[in-house]
Amino acid sequence: MARNSCHLPACFPAAALFLLLLLLAGDHLRLSAAGHDYHDALRKSILFFEGQRSGRLPTDQRVRWRKNSALHDGASAGVDLTGGYYDAGDNIKFGFPMAFTTTLLSWSVIDFGRNMGGGELGNAVRAVKWGTDYLLKATAHDGVVYVQVGDPLSDHNCWERPEDMDTLRTAYRIDANHPGSDVAGETAAALAAASIVFRSRNPAYSRLLLDRAIKVFEFADRHRGAYSSSLNYAVCPFYCDVNGYQDELLWGAAWLHKATRRREYREYIVRNEVVLRAGDSINEFGWDNKHAGINVLLSKEVLMGRANDLKQFQINADAFICSLLPGISHTQVQYSPGGLIFKAGGSNMQHVTSLSFLLLAYSNYLSHANHAVTCGDTSASPALLKRLARRQVDYILGDNPLRISYMVGYGPHYPQRIHHRASSLPSVDAHPARIACKAGSRYYMSPNPNPNILVGAVVGGPNSSDAFPDSRPYFQESEPTTYINAPLVGLLAYFSAHP
Ligand SMILES: *[C@@H]1O[C@H](CO)[C@@H](O)[C@H](O)[C@H]1NC(C)=O
Repeated sequence: MARNSCHLPACFPAAALFLLLLLLAGDHLRLSAAGHDYHDALRKSILFFEGQRSGRLPTDQRVRWRKNSALHDGASAGVDLTGGYYDAGDNIKFGFPMAFTTTLLSWSVIDFGRNMGGGELGNAVRAVKWGTDYLLKATAHDGVVYVQVGDPLSDHNCWERPEDMDTLRTAYRIDANHPGSDVAGETAAALAAASIVFRSRNPAYSRLLLDRAIKVFEFADRHRGAYSSSLNYAVCPFYCDVNGYQDELLWGAAWLHKATRRREYREYIVRNEVVLRAGDSINEFGWDNKHAGINVLLSKEVLMGRANDLKQFQINADAFICSLLPGISHTQVQYSPGGLIFKAGGSNMQHVTSLSFLLLAYSNYLSHANHAVTCGDTSASPALLKRLARRQVDYILGDNPLRISYMVGYGPHYPQRIHHRASSLPSVDAHPARIACKAGSRYYMSPNPNPNILVGAVVGGPNSSDAFPDSRPYFQESEPTTYINAPLVGLLAYFSAHP
């Protein structure tokens, strides 16, 4: 079943027992004795997205060491594909994780926007819009979705600033003959979720997003297939759809249901629940696998008493919660000795933030319905789920064996040599002359700290023994990504309002 399902006895390290004791002991044993400045971390987590911007930067750009870049993206295909986000420490615009990032940023605003004080709500909404403005361009022509700009081999062959880029900016697309229900389904989800964000703020833009979401979802559903079949050479092994496209169809329908309240989407979900394998891999949630997210999102409808035909999704969501509790069930998620959720495969913090986001979102849905999760003969209250989520956030911010914050620019100790081209090369202000493809290598190899502090970037994080090399070549540990930060924005918003 689940790709990363854990097998006994590896699932029961001493850490699990430790964590269980910690949970049972409750708040007074929390490691964060001094408490964290969640609001400061929230502000930084959103600011990070400005450092990832591609295209022409606006005058209110706060990350000033970044400049315009990739201003001709799409030109080779006769379309405008400027804008959007670089996914991580390279200069490629991968549409699949960019759409997922936009969906999760939107979900953060929808559920926790009211907790974003001091101007951060506006900043978060702008971060969503930087994604959706691009996704609208990528879906501007019926029956086509541009899913990537930048040849990954060409890009990865260079250590170059985005502002200097001379690598191949190939625009990759899917269409009826080269389907991609995965990336199209996720894009529909992102547009639908963002339409909720803009519903009262900018109704015309919201309608545009929702109309587009409906069209893109129809395209995704009618022409079924994985984009990595036709675009294997461009998207694999980076954002290959390993998990299949079925989950993105359910995910897209779930967000369209939430955004439109139309019956047809609920009927689609119920009709396709089995064939699209809704019960698969209950404890996975990330750019490739949406299952736990679908279950939590749809559970809200069930818990509000609005959709009993979706009951199975709540049963799955409960099972997901139980799988995260140490010592409860046999489909355990692993924890490091220091208490961090750990899944194999690199860039572990993506799992930490996305699973913690679901814990927190679900705990709120449960609270409103006055409900707790039953795991065998134990009961998991909403408060327990929040403590689990907070423990993960606190680990990220510095409550860990190395006493290091994994968010750049937060706290006294944080990663200095992140795997990120723009951060590690001198800025255009400091070094106006071009730095060519291979001329960047000496900055990559240098033991010195990065010259540009990419404030708010959360890196891949420590290995399963809580060790962290702080070294550029260790990209699985030292590279930040947009989809690590997107769910963290929601978590930090909540904890900044409920410290
Ligand atoms: C984690 O990294 C440390 C330091 O590099 C190393 O000693 C340890 O073996 C690694 N642990 C695992 C499980 O890879």
